Amino acid sequence: MAARFVILGATGDLTGRYLMPAVASLHERNQLPIAGRIVGVGREDWDSERFRRHMIARCARHAAHVSTSARETMCGNLEYRRADVTDPDQLRRVLGDGGAPLALYLALPPAVAGTVLRGLSGIPLPENSRIVCEKPFGHDLASARELNALLRPMFPEHAVFRIDHFLGKQTVQNILGLRFANRVFEYLWTRDHIERVEITWDETVALEGRAGYYDTTGALRDMIQNHLVQLLCLVAMEAPLGFNERDFRDRKVDVLRAVRRFSADEVAEHTARARYTAGRSAGRAVPNYADEPGVDPARQTETFARVTLFIDNWRWAGVPFVLRTGKALATDLNEIVVHFRPVPHLAFEKSAPAVNVLRLRLNPDRMELALNINGCGDPFDLEHAVLGTKLQPQDLSAYARLLLDVFEGNAVLSIRGDEAEESWRIVEPILAGWSTNAAPLLDYPAGTEAPPERS
Ligand code: BG6
Repeated sequence: MAARFVILGATGDLTGRYLMPAVASLHERNQLPIAGRIVGVGREDWDSERFRRHMIARCARHAAHVSTSARETMCGNLEYRRADVTDPDQLRRVLGDGGAPLALYLALPPAVAGTVLRGLSGIPLPENSRIVCEKPFGHDLASARELNALLRPMFPEHAVFRIDHFLGKQTVQNILGLRFANRVFEYLWTRDHIERVEITWDETVALEGRAGYYDTTGALRDMIQNHLVQLLCLVAMEAPLGFNERDFRDRKVDVLRAVRRFSADEVAEHTARARYTAGRSAGRAVPNYADEPGVDPARQTETFARVTLFIDNWRWAGVPFVLRTGKALATDLNEIVVHFRPVPHLAFEKSAPAVNVLRLRLNPDRMELALNINGCGDPFDLEHAVLGTKLQPQDLSAYARLLLDVFEGNAVLSIRGDEAEESWRIVEPILAGWSTNAAPLLDYPAGTEAPPERS
């Protein structure tokens, strides 16, 4: 059913960088089931004309693949309403005009989202309305619970879309096809055959003017609590009965519940954090994080985090899952690497085999399997071979795919309420350990390949 699409927080970076480019590409394909104009709501003293010009510029930058005419007709139809959405009366004024069901996107920080939800509870919304909450969902377990408690009386779970755009990435979805549509891997996909798994999201981008959000968030909350933990779920989950809202999400929650909660000693042993200093990354000079405008150095915000998690169940007991992410690093390296155990007995005496490694590169999308084979020349000498395939580029951006799900009312790829809480339960002991310096905050110069993990 067509919905009215209303974005709260529409002048923020997310709307221009991700949402409007996604809407522009859906518009170009005639896949936008929206009733009426798309409404952006923000605090800036703008009118619709100013908002349209702003979005045309942002889409030119972030949706360059969409034709200029499609971008401009879509943006030319946008409407802007100025409001302080934390004020229930102003919120009622921008939402309360009845009509088609709403698809209400909260492109807002978690603290503001809570206030808005409280205001929203007094405003009658059309039947079949949906709500979209950007990540991070809450700032910790208590606030995530509070957001869930506010949402529950207003929207049924299938109408709540807690966004994790990584689930809209094609290569991420390919993990499921690879694991559950092939016989060759699944029987080896256990602690008996897999030694460790690494999930890495290294970025060359630095703060990029996002201090207002990032400095109170940090790498653990920004990337690990949601995106990388979701990747972990897909790698580690049991086969679902089907890819429907219940089974798929139940199986992910099983993984989250089995992830070990760390003691303070385990935080010291299995986690590391660091913050970049001045340097060069991707050919650009990067200033010292602590000197960036809007950063409070005393917050000790980490821009790099590594955590080694353990899933205490039959399939994975004892297998380390190393999750690592950082900003202003030497390269953009986004991958999941599965290291298999060596063979139990090696009959080849002349050369050491490399372990079998399955590498899923996300961005550019590529899959590689490293094998040992007999060499040419001496047949009992081993050679290493890599089977690889480049995956088709993604036709729709991750946000466009997830927005389409919102408009079509399909919540399979949305993070369920209990799932969001379980993810916080994993990172909370780490945050608590870091607050007492269980793992000291180290420095790394921007452009570093691998930040130091121990002082
Ligand atoms: C966002 C984080 O959710 O994901 C950013 O807030 C991060 O810090 C980004 O850079 C990475 O996602 P993508 O899709 O841009 O690689």
